[in-house]
Amino acid sequence: MTDIDKAGTFTMGDRTVNRLGYGAMQLAGPGVFGPPRDHDAAIAVLRAAVARGVDHIDTSDFYGPHVTNRLIREALHPYPRELVLVTKIGAVRGDDKSWNPAFSPDQLARAVHDNLENLGLETLDVVNLRLMFDVHGPAEGPIEAPLSALAALQRQGLVRHIGLSNATAAQVAQARTMVEIVCVQNQYNIAHRDDDALIDSLAADGIAYVPFFPLGGFSPLQSRTLSDEAAKIGATPMQLALAWLLQRAPNILLIPGTASLAHLDENLAAADIVLSADSRAALDGIAAHG
Ligand SMILES: NC(=O)c1ccc[n+]([C@@H]2O[C@H](COP(=O)([O-])OP(=O)(O)OC[C@H]3O[C@@H](n4cnc5c(N)ncnc54)[C@H](OP(=O)(O)O)[C@@H]3O)[C@@H](O)[C@H]2O)c1
Repeated sequence: MTDIDKAGTFTMGDRTVNRLGYGAMQLAGPGVFGPPRDHDAAIAVLRAAVARGVDHIDTSDFYGPHVTNRLIREALHPYPRELVLVTKIGAVRGDDKSWNPAFSPDQLARAVHDNLENLGLETLDVVNLRLMFDVHGPAEGPIEAPLSALAALQRQGLVRHIGLSNATAAQVAQARTMVEIVCVQNQYNIAHRDDDALIDSLAADGIAYVPFFPLGGFSPLQSRTLSDEAAKIGATPMQLALAWLLQRAPNILLIPGTASLAHLDENLAAADIVLSADSRAALDGIAAHG
């Protein structure tokens, strides 16, 4: 079995995690709206992830809603001391499965309390403020009021560390003048590299960057170059996409999502892959050339 420690570790605030983690969103069910496709399989995947050394799980109470957090609690509570659960707030789900902004102080406090209750925690390790001012991706918009509200919840002891999601570089810079930011979670993968400069500047400052959709999310990565390079070393394209991210920058933490035990093992085995310089150069060209 893979030793995922080969991927190395990174410290967010006072919590050190393995760089290969797990994203729980897909467990919520079709459309990220409950009920889960297979409850028992979801529990098995969560337990297997932790048994294989994963100590960083990404979640939110708006996945389901409530479904993913309740699955995590059922599968893993009481939690191992080293397990870091990272959640996010800033949205509520409509009955029609829609995602709606929820940035008022009351909504943010409600979201923190819902996460605490459904995860069975007294303090949330890391809470990302999910800024969704444009459905197409990060966009400028006011962050001062919601971030102040989250900082107040942190002062109450309900939140240990604060991160941002779907944030622009300017929002990250502004946020850092207000509170300590330990991580940024944006869309990024081998084919979608808008955040290259942001990743490097965060790396220089010791802040984690956590790409969501590392495997392409709802549209899985497809690239001839990725498949060819994977075949050369007997890996799968998804493993190579994860290995490329691990080697892209030391502050990148992976949270690939899967509801499959086989895919979980496949993804964690990316820790074993060391890219040659030639392969790295070919993979670096995917975002520009496909
Ligand atoms: N901050 C945000 O706004 C935001 C947005 C989206 C997601 N996220 C977070 O990011 C995490 C990761 O994103 P994601 O799960 O949506 O996307 P992802 O990790 O890029 O891809 C997950 C998809 O890839 C499939 N997959 C996983 N491993 C595979 C493998 N080895 N071979 C083939 N297919 C594989 C999964 O299907 P199977 O189940 O069949 O394996 C699933 O459909 C989420 O869990 C969530 O925590 C955050």
